[in-house]
Amino acid sequence: MWRQLLQPLCHDLQQTWGRPAVLGRSEAVAASALEALKDLSLFIDSGLLPAGCTGHSNGSWHSRPLPGRFRDVVTKRTIYANNAGLYLPGLAEFCLAALKTFQWPCAANVYASPAALEVSVPCHTDRQDVLVFQATGQKRWQVFHPPDIGDVDPLRRGKDGDVIEHLGDPLLDVVLEPGYMLYVPLGFGHRTSTYGLRGPSWHITLNLDSVIWGLSYRLRW
Ligand SMILES: [Fe+2]
Repeated sequence: MWRQLLQPLCHDLQQTWGRPAVLGRSEAVAASALEALKDLSLFIDSGLLPAGCTGHSNGSWHSRPLPGRFRDVVTKRTIYANNAGLYLPGLAEFCLAALKTFQWPCAANVYASPAALEVSVPCHTDRQDVLVFQATGQKRWQVFHPPDIGDVDPLRRGKDGDVIEHLGDPLLDVVLEPGYMLYVPLGFGHRTSTYGLRGPSWHITLNLDSVIWGLSYRLRW
């Protein structure tokens, strides 16, 4: 199933590579993503799946251990589980299909957020090009041009005390509904919010790992 859903994205990605874009919407994607995440809370609460929650102060992202059970924390904070495809069988199938389809190293993270979070995650940059698959609920994404390069790792801006200033106007400002697929290029600032939206919001982030496997010269942009 995932191979059929992902195949059209190959063409779309080639067209938009390096530029943020919404790549479409599919009810089958929402249903498949939800199915892949059906045991998320069980795996997290049992300790099988490492997870944390996001916090932020003064516009910088901090990660913290979960202070309680999934169902209690997820009403207040965004919970994330990195590399969840290593643990959840349904996500493992998704990652394998993505690997075969894109022929590119990849991994899947999961995010679950309550509604009404003005800041789900503050503006930051990452080391991967990512594809976001919205499973349920709504989430607002704002994507900004890569920040000016200074002393801080350009692929780890906005984290652990660093704050991205002078964001400028967003290149993309969109509310993702279930089944939406979003592409965010490596190094582009992005922030999310669920304020005023329908929740809870769950999504899968597929990391297309180019830099860490030495497959990109993008650090020289
Ligand atoms: Fe990110």
